[in-house]
Amino acid sequence: MRAMRKVRRVLFAATIGSLEEYRAKRGGEGLAAALEVDPMALVETLEASGLRGRGGAGFPTGRKWRTMVENRSERVGTTVVVNGAEGEPGTFKDRSILRKNPYHVLEGALIAAHAVGADRVIFGLKRSFAIEVARVRTAIAEAEASGWSGDVALEVFEGPDEYLYGEETALLETIDGRYPFPRLAPPFRRGVRSFEERHGGARPGVTSAANVQMAGPGGATDAPPALVDNVETLANVPRIFQRGAAWFRTVGTEESPGTIVCTVTGSTRHHGVAEVIMGTPLREVIESIGGGTKEGRRIKAVMPGVANGLIHADQLDTPVSYEAMSAIGSGVGSGGFIVMDDSVDLVAVAAGVSRFLGVESCGQCTPCKQGGLKISGLLRDLSQSKGAERAFASMESSVAAVADSARCYLAHQHEAVVHSVLERFPEEMAAHVSGQAPPVPPYLVAELVDITGGVAILDGRFRDKQPDWTYEEVFSGKLPADRLGEGRYGEWTFRPREWVSITDVDD
Ligand SMILES: Cc1cc2nc3c(=O)[nH]c(=O)nc-3n(C[C@H](O)[C@H](O)[C@H](O)COP(=O)(O)O)c2cc1C
Ligand code: SF4
Repeated sequence: MRAMRKVRRVLFAATIGSLEEYRAKRGGEGLAAALEVDPMALVETLEASGLRGRGGAGFPTGRKWRTMVENRSERVGTTVVVNGAEGEPGTFKDRSILRKNPYHVLEGALIAAHAVGADRVIFGLKRSFAIEVARVRTAIAEAEASGWSGDVALEVFEGPDEYLYGEETALLETIDGRYPFPRLAPPFRRGVRSFEERHGGARPGVTSAANVQMAGPGGATDAPPALVDNVETLANVPRIFQRGAAWFRTVGTEESPGTIVCTVTGSTRHHGVAEVIMGTPLREVIESIGGGTKEGRRIKAVMPGVANGLIHADQLDTPVSYEAMSAIGSGVGSGGFIVMDDSVDLVAVAAGVSRFLGVESCGQCTPCKQGGLKISGLLRDLSQSKGAERAFASMESSVAAVADSARCYLAHQHEAVVHSVLERFPEEMAAHVSGQAPPVPPYLVAELVDITGGVAILDGRFRDKQPDWTYEEVFSGKLPADRLGEGRYGEWTFRPREWVSITDVDD
């Protein structure tokens, strides 16, 4: 196989140790250029570049910034929130970017602040991301001391480990002092300015997103929109303004220009993170980052995180681009590819994903939480169940209903992943239903806490996590949503990380 062409735009080979070093290497030129032009011109340049959000959905970033500008409030400032929650299983790219160089992410956020008229930037990280929190805090201190950040206030928010914390409305809720529960999706996001800040006093008993106002067009309310962009998205921004929109399009495809930072884990020789040109065939990405499969093994499937359907081995030549991945009924997600070789039981994978999403669901929507947990139990016990065919039929109907009235995308993810196994690997399900396959083995799907020495480290605590988001021995039967009012959210779950090497994960 030919060597993959390497381009480094956001994930550098060397670590940038200080703001001074960054600026000596021409860092800061994008911000300087951006400050010279009108905010709308920035939006137009970004639209021309074709940059799409790298947090998972691939939404055009320029279009999002335009909506923010058009919905600014006259009375309260806008906030830029950097989404550094990185909770997608199989993804370690935002932390890799921040460890190497937090300065270009900060520069991208400062350019965004200028474009949308924000006076505040908040980095939404996790408390457990100790290395990245320290890197960003140092970068902020240097930026403030040198005056590089101008009048823009810079903050770090250290959030909880829950998966939903990365969902953008849940992120805003958490920063505003509530629980990481998604809001009903309004056309415009209200920001992170609390009721107290807007009205000079606390509103008693407010713990729920139900009190959240919608941002109004033209700033008609005092609820300004907040701009939430992913770490990698913002890391791309400075050079677009330093070198131009046309330069950005010199690599990648028409609909997916630029590069993407991919993580490869699972049944490969090693695990790792690297930046690849959009449109590179998936097979090349896996070979180049993961070194292919182990001796005598072949790839059976690839899972791009837990938001999109599994990719069949026959589809490995698909280019890694938003349009090509969507055309095969899957998605790029956040560029995290979990590889499964022919020794992996895909019903076990479906059960692992199902447990992850069932446990992480917040319970505001009954089909998502109750139906999700039911699917996970049925999949786990499929081959041991006496009435396996009935259990299978019940599971199929729960999958079809899991996303009914869903407030956020998590429930749709559940449907997409399990449905893809049913549709693309029917023989695996049939073997369990007929009792020919052995019991479904455990397959841990959890967030990554690091990749060291070419080995991915999963968050082993997840095996003990209960659907009420506690780590108690016995499940209380409560849903996370039932626990509203049990104190400020962050007090619930912070626990020291227990690291489990993926090679040890056999339960
Ligand atoms: C359940 C769930 C979890 C998510 N977790 C993350 C995350 O950890 N990091 C992230 O950047 N986006 C995450 N997202 C996507 C965000 O909601 C949002 O699309 C993103 O922050 C937008 O930034 P972008 O346009 O730069 O991609 C998640 C979405 C869902 C539905
Ligand atoms: S769809 Fe699921 S995770 Fe999303 S708000 Fe509803 S219950 Fe919570």
